[in-house]
This record gives sequence, structure tokens and C-alpha cells, in this order.
Amino acid sequence: MTGRLAGRVALISGAASGMGASHARAFVAEGASVVIGDVAVDAGKRLADELGERAAYVPLDVTRSGDWEAAVAATLDLFGKLDVLVNNAGVLDGGSLGSYTEQQWQRVLAINLTGPFLGLTAARAALIAARPAAVVNISSAAGMQGVAGMHAYTASKFGLRGFTKSAALELAPHGVRVNSVHPGGIATPMIGALPGTVTIDRAENTLTRLGEPEEVTPLVVYLASEESSYCTGGEYVVDGGMTAGSITG
Ligand SMILES: NC(=O)c1ccc[n+]([C@@H]2O[C@H](COP(=O)([O-])OP(=O)(O)OC[C@H]3O[C@@H](n4cnc5c(N)ncnc54)[C@H](O)[C@@H]3O)[C@@H](O)[C@H]2O)c1
Repeated sequence: MTGRLAGRVALISGAASGMGASHARAFVAEGASVVIGDVAVDAGKRLADELGERAAYVPLDVTRSGDWEAAVAATLDLFGKLDVLVNNAGVLDGGSLGSYTEQQWQRVLAINLTGPFLGLTAARAALIAARPAAVVNISSAAGMQGVAGMHAYTASKFGLRGFTKSAALELAPHGVRVNSVHPGGIATPMIGALPGTVTIDRAENTLTRLGEPEEVTPLVVYLASEESSYCTGGEYVVDGGMTAGSITG
């Protein structure tokens, strides 16, 4: 098998939908074997079937350490090793201070921030054993700048950016690189934009249109591959210029 990820074995959380599904498709096309970990059973199985023998679905709720341990064990059973972890699963909600509840806050933090921590905790030994290994944490433009009314989401994505750096520093001597990716507005079910069901403004001005999942995936492939062998602890925006600054004078 040839390809930019030939022979790599990846576990991608939240890969049943949106950007995660795009990453899974590209990883298989680039020669990797992929385990799709998601709470969405039907969509996860459908994608694994579509991708063929180098793909499998495992049920994974990223807030449960036992699920992560089972997903890592299943990956080793199926494909013999684990050398790429993509922490992609995430949820979005919002609400003004005063009405945004503690329960909402805890849920978003549990999925978006504790999830990647539990994932890397469960995968750490396997990644080190498979060195050189790579972890790609999907943060957000909301991990670089605040978003009004999205308190837990912004906090979770800033937190994931920070956790990426502490993990990168600790794991560099063990041959494991850890980087964060910061997409801007991307047309996925998360933001109510199912590809194919909305009209995306394809104007050349990236500031005025949504991105598509396939415009984020090449960066994730790069960070998962040994092409990025000197990159760790980094933060990579793919946001159409959203975080570059203000367009008003
Ligand atoms: N769409 C955007 O504009 C945007 C921008 C920046 C960052 N992101 C981030 O990109 C990542 C992917 O988002 P997307 O836009 O593709 O959204 P999406 O809703 O299409 O996909 C998210 C996936 O995560 C899964 N998921 C949710 N909770 C889970 C849990 N507890 N355990 C396991 N899986 C779970 C869902 O089932 C779904 O398949 C998220 O981390 C999101 O925060 C999205």
C-alpha cells in the first residue's frame, strides 16, 4: 500500500460524521487503517462498511475511560498497533451567562476536553510502542479567540490547545508528537450545515464562506504523517482568515 499514511493505524473519535468522516475517508485513501470511534452507531457502521477492510467501527463515548480502553484494545486486536490518535469528537452549544446551566457547561467540557485527556491516557502506551506516533487534537478557532455566548465551548477549545502543549512536551522524548488544529466555520451537521443540503457561498473570499470538511482534512493528514516529523506542540489554523484580525479599520 502506498500513500502518505501507508501502514499507519489511526483511531479517530467522532468519525461517523462531518470532519471526522472526511478524515477517515482520506486516511484510508492514503493507506492507513482506521478505527471509527463514535456514539453514533448506525452512521459509524455505515462509514466503516463503505471504507472496506481497512476500516472498523467501535462504539465510543469519549467521556468514558472504559470505552477508550476498549477502543484501544480493539484497534490493537484488529490492526496490530496504534500510531495515530485523532481527538475529533466534539459538541457545540451556547447561551448567555445567567441562563447557561452548569449541566450544559459540564457536558461540553466532558466531551470536548476531558474526552481527549481520557483518549490520550488510554492510548499513551500503544502510541509509545508504535513510535513514531502522532496525536491530532481538533480544537477550533474558538480555541484562539473568544466567541460570545459560547462559554463552555470556548473554554474547552482553549483548554484542548493547552493540553496539546503539555502533552507534546511530556511525550516528545517518547516519539509521540501532539498538535492542535483550529478550524473556522466548517459546513458540517454541528453547525446545522449538512453538506449537500445547504447552499455554501463558494465565493473566493474565504472570510465570507464556510469551509468544507475536505479543506481541513489535508492538514490533519499532514500532522498524522511523518511529513510533519519536526512539528509538535503546534497550533494550526485552517479558518479562512477568521482569526487573522478585524476587517474594519
Ligand atoms: N463545524 C465547525 O464549524 C467546527 C469548527 C471548529 C472546530 N470544530 C470541531 O471539529 C470537531 C468535529 O466537528 P464536526 O463539525 O465535524 O461535527 P459533527 O457534529 O459533524 O461531528 C461530531 C461527531 O462527534 C460525535 N460525538 C459527539 N459526542 C460524542 C461522544 N461523547 N463520544 C464520541 N463521539 C461523540 C458525534 O456523534 C459526531 O459523529 C469537533 O471537535 C468540533 O468542535 C468544528
